[in-house]
Amino acid sequence: MSTSINVLFVCLGNICRSPTAQGIFQSMVDSHPSAHSIYVDSAGTGDWHIGAPPDSRAVSAAKQRGCDISGLRARQVTRQDFDQFDYILAMDAQNLLDLRAICPGNFKGTLCRFLDFADMQADVPDPYFGGSEGFEHVFDLCQSASRGLLAHISRHHV
Ligand code: 4NP
Repeated sequence: MSTSINVLFVCLGNICRSPTAQGIFQSMVDSHPSAHSIYVDSAGTGDWHIGAPPDSRAVSAAKQRGCDISGLRARQVTRQDFDQFDYILAMDAQNLLDLRAICPGNFKGTLCRFLDFADMQADVPDPYFGGSEGFEHVFDLCQSASRGLLAHISRHHV
């Protein structure tokens, strides 16, 4: 029987980085048939953008690379997410601190920075107050870490 793996990407607003990661990883999962069914979602630690679509600059950067994230809508992370998700992946160190603050003591999954899966001890930088090149950089980083995450899941879940 195949197992289901649940992956949640988390940033601050859930309108730039984590929906980009969600879109990239979802399209990789869709095009790499595997033994696992992998459920992919994203959320923000903040509540300002609940219900909003991704930032238009994130939508454009993803569209240029063949990834449609326009249908996603922002939500805020909750404690219940720790019951459902096996991987909760923070875009930056502050997101990780905020997640650790609400992480139940009995959480059995993986909570870390997303770029750990690209062998980079680094943040996916917040592109919100910068230009479009920041969004392209976010896309590149998320693509690299998504490849590493998919390889990790294939190796570690039989
Ligand atoms: P995200 O980017 O965390 O990658 O979605 C941001 C989105 C909105 C804000 C900050 C970062 N904001 O300050 O509203």
